[in-house]
Amino acid sequence: MKAHILLAHPEPNSFNGRLLGISKEALAAAGYDCSVSDLYAMDFDPREGQQHYPSRKDPDSFHTQTEQRFSADNGTIPADVASEVRHLEEADLLVVHFPLWWFGAPAILKGWMDRVFVYGRLYRSEMRYDAGICAGKRMIACVTTGANEDNCAFNGREGDTKLILWPILFPFRYLGYTVLEPQIFHGVGGVAFMEGQEGGRSTLDIYSDEWTATISDLQARPSIAYNADSDFDDTKRLKPDAPVYAPFIRQNSDWHKG
Ligand SMILES: Cc1cc2nc3c(=O)[nH]c(=O)nc-3n(C[C@H](O)[C@H](O)[C@H](O)COP(=O)(O)O)c2cc1C
Repeated sequence: MKAHILLAHPEPNSFNGRLLGISKEALAAAGYDCSVSDLYAMDFDPREGQQHYPSRKDPDSFHTQTEQRFSADNGTIPADVASEVRHLEEADLLVVHFPLWWFGAPAILKGWMDRVFVYGRLYRSEMRYDAGICAGKRMIACVTTGANEDNCAFNGREGDTKLILWPILFPFRYLGYTVLEPQIFHGVGGVAFMEGQEGGRSTLDIYSDEWTATISDLQARPSIAYNADSDFDDTKRLKPDAPVYAPFIRQNSDWHKG
């Protein structure tokens, strides 16, 4: 079994860096052969654009998906991206570590998706969702927030972190992954985190133990429910009798009425 671990954090000594270390150790102990992409350490360029495509289908006008597909068809996928693609193709499990930054993923992670999810190689119209190339593979995100659990609750002032993560994780579903429920650690860097609690153990230690337990027993982790391809009609609207799993794809447009 192979696992690929991604870290999107500028500081190896951060809590996210510590969580990466736990992932490596626990997955190795569980029998996984692990590879790691530490995006900042690699100086991964998150900006998709012309600079990566010296050989172009259309030299006059840069259309991203056209050039991604051209590079996939001609074996000219940029080297840094090709290496990431290989990791994804080889790994049965993908673990992604990142802090929540401005209610989203750090730019380096978003850019990694923009570049690495190569049209023509990792997806195309007939190869996505249930028929995605990563069907049968699992992924899990481990996310930290600065705000505490109350602020990030379903009725919290900072918005429901689980909902905020839905669109961030949906690209993995698009590629066919089984997306496990993300692990979210709140209040990282906050007062409780610094002072420690529960008999002198720091919040960081408690969170670390929790992540060790999660990553050591992924079989027990539920996955996010998504609508199957068959839940949509020919126009790709949800069928009236199909289940609703998230407010992003629903039967009733009046979601804001609470
Ligand atoms: C640019 C930036 C944006 C941030 N935005 C958020 C945010 O939207 N919500 C939140 O709860 N914390 C936010 N934070 C706090 C980080 O999530 C927090 O510092 C991090 O999860 C702590 O983990 P670390 O010690 O591994 O960095 C932000 C921090 C930075 C630097």
